[in-house]
Amino acid sequence: MKVLINFRQIADETFWIGGSDRRLSRFENIFPLQDGVSYNSYVINDEKTALLDTADISISDQFLENLKGVIGEGKLDYLVINHMEPDHCSQIATVVSMFPEVTLVGNAKTFTFLSQFFPELNEQAKCTVAEGDKLELGKHTLTFVMAPMVHWPEAMFSFDTTTGILFSADAFGTFGAIDAGIFADEYDFEKRFLDEARRYYANIVGKYGMQVQAVLKKAAAIDIKMICPLHGPIWRKDLAWFIDKYQKWSTYTPEDDEIVVIYGSLYGHTESAAQKAADILREKSGKQVRIYDASQTHTSELISEVWRCSKIVIFSPTYNNGIYIPIANLVEDLIALGVQKRTFAIAQNGSWAPASGRLITEKLSGLKEINIVEPMLTIKSALHEADMADLEAFAEAIVNA
Ligand code: FEO
Repeated sequence: MKVLINFRQIADETFWIGGSDRRLSRFENIFPLQDGVSYNSYVINDEKTALLDTADISISDQFLENLKGVIGEGKLDYLVINHMEPDHCSQIATVVSMFPEVTLVGNAKTFTFLSQFFPELNEQAKCTVAEGDKLELGKHTLTFVMAPMVHWPEAMFSFDTTTGILFSADAFGTFGAIDAGIFADEYDFEKRFLDEARRYYANIVGKYGMQVQAVLKKAAAIDIKMICPLHGPIWRKDLAWFIDKYQKWSTYTPEDDEIVVIYGSLYGHTESAAQKAADILREKSGKQVRIYDASQTHTSELISEVWRCSKIVIFSPTYNNGIYIPIANLVEDLIALGVQKRTFAIAQNGSWAPASGRLITEKLSGLKEINIVEPMLTIKSALHEADMADLEAFAEAIVNA
């Protein structure tokens, strides 16, 4: 199948050769995508040619056409592997078959993973790099910045000292296909991408805040003119604005001093109580209060809202003497991602033996710098007039927390 060549020059001798998959319904077969995702790949076409990462198999035709479009009849000298996750490494063997003389560039861990994914490439020429090593291409020189656990152990950044471009692997990426424009400043980024960038960060990288902090410190010492991530648009303006978002997200600092109410509800009784609580919270706090049904809104969206907001109110029925499953999934994910620095308030419902609140509290208590509002709210089957004083006090405690 012939596809149109669709690469873009982004700097001297430097080209974006990626593409977007608008058909994928779930990233990593977990995270729902409303609007697809892009897979970015880059070429520096200097005296020596370097390809920086490949792409997902879903866009392989587009990617390979773009690569041929930039390289033409020339040869490929280096394939720099900043990240070995299959959404970026799937085409390594194909590229090697097209350019058998290519040297693969990566760190020691890169090549461990390469051998696991592509044992057939064990004899391919390799150049193992470490922190600060250089690769001369002619006019351009790449230096390498290790970024372990952002968000795989082998992840690294490549920095072009000539153009000031940081090839940042998954860091600074976002869900969402690339529209008509490759640079973030060609969009209203806040409207088009910010929520998806936060959801991407919180769910994919959120667990590794400390490691992101370490690499942000290294990046602060570099004169970065452009950031080229592996997903989403390229940053050439307002870098500080987006880096500040990463600063907040990676230090678990809420972006907004706002309240989010998340409930589970089998028949609507817990939902009704959560709605009443949200109305009272809005009135008492004067802040924005968002409400989500954990059975309807994907956990990854809820996680993203937890990353955005300072206070999280959870309403859960008791189910099988435990936590209602959609809420239990959220709580387990919060623990897996190690969220910090939030205020939680818990409300439980139970017709005969309410237990979900105690169980949620026990689980969240293990997280760092978490404030859990006391006492929790308990309702039996449904919210009644007699519960209103407790609900008012519950809301007051949340606002004052
Ligand atoms: Fe986009 Fe960690 O792969």
